[in-house]
Parts: sequence; C-alpha cells; structure tokens
Amino acid sequence: MPEQTPNPFRSASKFEVDPAVLRATRESVTKARHLPGWFYTSPELFDREIETIFLKEWLCVGRVEEYSKPGDYHALRIAGEPLLIARDTQNKLHAFRNLCVHRGVEVASGQGNAKSFRCPYHSWVYNLDGTLAGAPHTKEVEGFDFSSCKLPSIKLDTWGGYIFVNFDPASPSLGDYLDADGVREFGEFLKPEETLTSDKFSYVVPCNWKFVPENLMDMYHVGVIHKESFGGHFPVNDFRYRLGKYGYHAVYESYTMAPKGATLFGTMPWLRGKVSDRFACTIWIRPSMNLFGRHDLIQPIVTTPIDVNHTQVTVYTQLPKEYFEAPAFNEKNKIYADFIRMVLTEDNEMLESLQNGVKSRGFVPGPTVKLERAIHHCLNYYLDRLFGPDETARNTRLNDGVAELRKAEARGPAIDGGYSQAFRGAAE
Ligand code: FES
Ligand SMILES: [Fe+2]
Repeated sequence: MPEQTPNPFRSASKFEVDPAVLRATRESVTKARHLPGWFYTSPELFDREIETIFLKEWLCVGRVEEYSKPGDYHALRIAGEPLLIARDTQNKLHAFRNLCVHRGVEVASGQGNAKSFRCPYHSWVYNLDGTLAGAPHTKEVEGFDFSSCKLPSIKLDTWGGYIFVNFDPASPSLGDYLDADGVREFGEFLKPEETLTSDKFSYVVPCNWKFVPENLMDMYHVGVIHKESFGGHFPVNDFRYRLGKYGYHAVYESYTMAPKGATLFGTMPWLRGKVSDRFACTIWIRPSMNLFGRHDLIQPIVTTPIDVNHTQVTVYTQLPKEYFEAPAFNEKNKIYADFIRMVLTEDNEMLESLQNGVKSRGFVPGPTVKLERAIHHCLNYYLDRLFGPDETARNTRLNDGVAELRKAEARGPAIDGGYSQAFRGAAE
C-alpha cells in the first residue's frame, strides 16, 4: 500500500530517555515505580505511541452484528486515521482508509447503509468493495488508470464476533497476535460469538489514552471508589492472573454489573453449572481493549486516542442471542445500561484527576504494588514497544506471575472450579 512521503521539514531527532527512568519501571512489581508524568503529557511521545503501537497492533473497531447487511458501513477515526468499515455485495467485510484518492476528502461519514460512496467534494464514486465507479472529468487526464484506482485497504479479521483492523501490512495474523497472549484459548469458554450487543455508547475523557486501560486493570481502586456500586464484594487477594507475552487475563470474584449484583437474565447458557454468580474474568487485548466477563454478560471497553489529553472510550454490553426474546427485555436491558454508565462515571473523575496530577511539576511517580501486577505488565509493554524489548524484565514478570498463580492454586480452586483454566493461556 503506498504511504505518504515523509515530511522533509520534520527533523529526524533521536528518541531517547535516561535508562534509569526505564529501569525504575522495569524492576519487578514490588520494587518498580509508575511512569513519570511526561509519559502521559508529551505530544512527542504520543506521536511515537501512535506510530509504534496503534499503527502496528490489531485494534478492535466494532462487532460483526453492526454490519448485518451488504452496504452497512461505519466511518471512524482511529489513531487520527480516517477509516471506513463496510460490507460489500458479496457479504465480505472491508476496512479502507476513508480517503478519496483524488485529494483525500473522507468519502463516507457517520454510519448507515449505502449502495456506494460518493466523495462530497468532486463526486468521485466508489463501490462497496472500494473500487472506483465514477470520476467526472478525468477522461483527458494522461496516464489515469481508472481500473487500478481504489480506496486503500487495511487488514481486517474477526475473532469472537469482534472486528479488528491493522494498519501495518507486515503485522502477524490476528490469530497469532491473540495467541501470543493466550486470548483465543482463554476466551473460548466465554463464547462472545454467541452474544449480541445489547448496549453500546461512547464518550470522551480529558486524559491520556493510557490511563483508560490502566484504570480498567486497576483492581486496587475497586473496593474504594466503586464500593457502593459493584465493589462491595471484591476479594482482591484471590486474583488469578495469567500474564501473556504482552497482555494478560485473570479470573476473580465480583458481582455482576447490575444493581446489588443481581442478574436480570440469569447465567449465560454455556456457563450454567460451571461458574457461580460471582464469577468474573478479564482479558486485556493490547493495546486498547479491556474485555470483562461475568456469569451473565460480556462487557468489552475499547480505548481510542484522540490527542495527548483526550481519549474516546466505547463500551459494549453483550448478551446471549436468546435473551433478546426474554420477557421485559428492554426494561431489564435499560437497568444494565444505566448501571454501567454510573460505574464508569465513578472512574471518570479519577481519570481527569490523574491527568491533572501528572501535569504537575511536583509529581514524582510512586511505587507499584502487587495488586497492580497487570498495570505493571502493561507499563512495561509500552516501554518495550517504544524503546525496544527487555526480555530479562519480561521473564522476571512472567515467572513472578506463575509463582503467584501457583500459590493461589495451592489455596484452592478458582471461583469457577477451574473451568476457565481448561483453556490455558500461552503464558504457561
Ligand atoms: S477529493 Fe474526492 S472527488 Fe475530489
Ligand atoms: Fe473503576
């Protein structure tokens, strides 16, 4: 795929950091420090993250059920790149750069169902498979090859009903990417492909993108700021983490995301008799998807950077297909929808405050604690992507993680009696 020629006016300055800063976070979890404030405030670092993380990794952009018919499309902006997801007349899903090949105007906006995409500027028209269908007044253009003109395509693949895209043509397959962290093996028992989206909403938080996934993997704050909503029963000492090469997943005990922890639809059919109503799990699909499972629902949260201080958060709730026919579905679904909004509002105040804190000249990063094992793994993933991998530090984290898991197993079986462990991740 042709790429834009580099800006000749941008200096090729070195991107270097005092090694002592990196070492402080690369220590093992009980000796390490959180990252300095400028990791969350530097526009230069943000640009580097877009290049080395968001334009290289697989990113979740939605669910297949959002494109049920040929012609269904969404125009998005991911990592600053205009993107168009569309289902063609042959039922194939495509991801394109949403860039007219004339002068780069976005050819589609919003979402809906279309027969074709007409650029609003000079009316070039594109078919649903991205090929050019019309380009007025181009007959006299010398060397203009109409048939080879098309919207540039991006890699797209699906897992569990989630659509992922990757801007890097040289990236590994989605399957290999997920397997590096044991996502497919572990996620299999949840059967996200057997669910449909019952609720989806997005909002913008005034903080750096990294604070969103970090907050979602922060088990330390749940019993504090979510005490009244869902954190009333949250035994933090029995988290069963499985760290992958970069990401992680965990099994733990928690209420479901409904008032008083009481399910309104019951346990998902494929988990009945296998997990209790306090079963909870989470999968971090690096860099931007935190997926949560409860006995009765699945709730993935997807993070999209806008600029260094602004981040879009998209929250899905998914329920088994058959629940959509249940009596009083809409009323019950609204109770879940209101509840997750309330819980995330509790987090948003902290996100804003974190961003203000790291801007302060007086901010010095404090220690990471064992309950922040997942965050520590994630911070090191950023460092590996930005400055090159440190295999020794990673092996220490993985070994520590396995030792901790063995201790937990010696205390007794996990909340699901080991059901989810039947799908072991790559970390072991
Ligand atoms: S920019 Fe699209 S037709 Fe000119
Ligand atoms: Fe939270």
